[in-house]
Amino acid sequence: MRLNKYIANAGLASRRGADALIADGKVRVGGKVVRELGYDYDEAADGPVSVNGKTIAPAAADPSSGRTAAKKIYIALHKPKGYITTTKDERGRPTVMDLVADADARLFPIGRLDGPTTGLLLLTNDGDFAQRLAHPKHETVKTYRARVTGPLTKGKIERLRRGVDIGGYVTKPAEVEVVKQAERSMVIEIKIHEGKNRQVRKMFAAVGCKVVDLERTAVGAVRLGRLLPGHWRKLTLREIESLL
Ligand code: URA
Repeated sequence: MRLNKYIANAGLASRRGADALIADGKVRVGGKVVRELGYDYDEAADGPVSVNGKTIAPAAADPSSGRTAAKKIYIALHKPKGYITTTKDERGRPTVMDLVADADARLFPIGRLDGPTTGLLLLTNDGDFAQRLAHPKHETVKTYRARVTGPLTKGKIERLRRGVDIGGYVTKPAEVEVVKQAERSMVIEIKIHEGKNRQVRKMFAAVGCKVVDLERTAVGAVRLGRLLPGHWRKLTLREIESLL
C-alpha cells in the first residue's frame, strides 16, 4: 500500500496531508525517515510506521475505514487556533477553508468553532446532510474538553449539568465531568446537545469561571482521535451513517 494511504487510513491526515508530512521528514518507516512520495509500504517487510515520533498501530490502518460515499464528500478537520469558521473572511484572516483547499470540493462547515477553539469540525458539500445535522431536533451530542480557571465547585458543576442562563437562554441538561484537577485550573469534559453561539464559554462564565482552552473532541460518534492539527480526513461510511 502507498505510504500516504496507510497514514490516511489510520486517520492522521488526508493523503495529500500525509504527503506533506512525508516531505517534511516527519514520517519514519522501520525507524528510518522516508521522504519518498509514492513510497510503497509493505507492513511485513518494512516494520512499523511512525508520524511525529508516534507509531501507528497496524490495526488502526484498516483499509476499509477509508471508504466513503460516492460524489458527496464528508470530512473531519482538526481546526487549530486562530482559524475562522467561515467560507470567506472580509478581513483576510485565515479560514478553515484554507486547510481543506486540497480536498478539491466546494465544502462548507457544519456548525462553527470560535477562532480560539481547536478540535473537530465537520465539513461537507452535501447541503441536505448539513441541514439535517444542524437542525435543533437532531440534538447531536458535541463533546468538548475545557481547561477552566476560577473555583469550580460541585454546586457549580451541578448547575452546569442542569442548565444555566447564558443571556436570555437557559441551556438544556449537559453532561459534565472533571477530567483533571490542577492547582490553578481544571480540565472538564462537557457534552452538550445543542450549539448556541460560544455556548461552552458562556456556560462557564455563567458560573463565574473562565475557559482558557477549549477543544471539541467529538461530534456524535465521530471522534477527533489522532487527527493532527491542521489536517483532515474523510469520514467513514459508518461515521456518516451514525450522524444521521
Ligand atoms: N462553545 C464555545 O464556546 N465555543 C466553540 O467554539 C464551541 C462551543
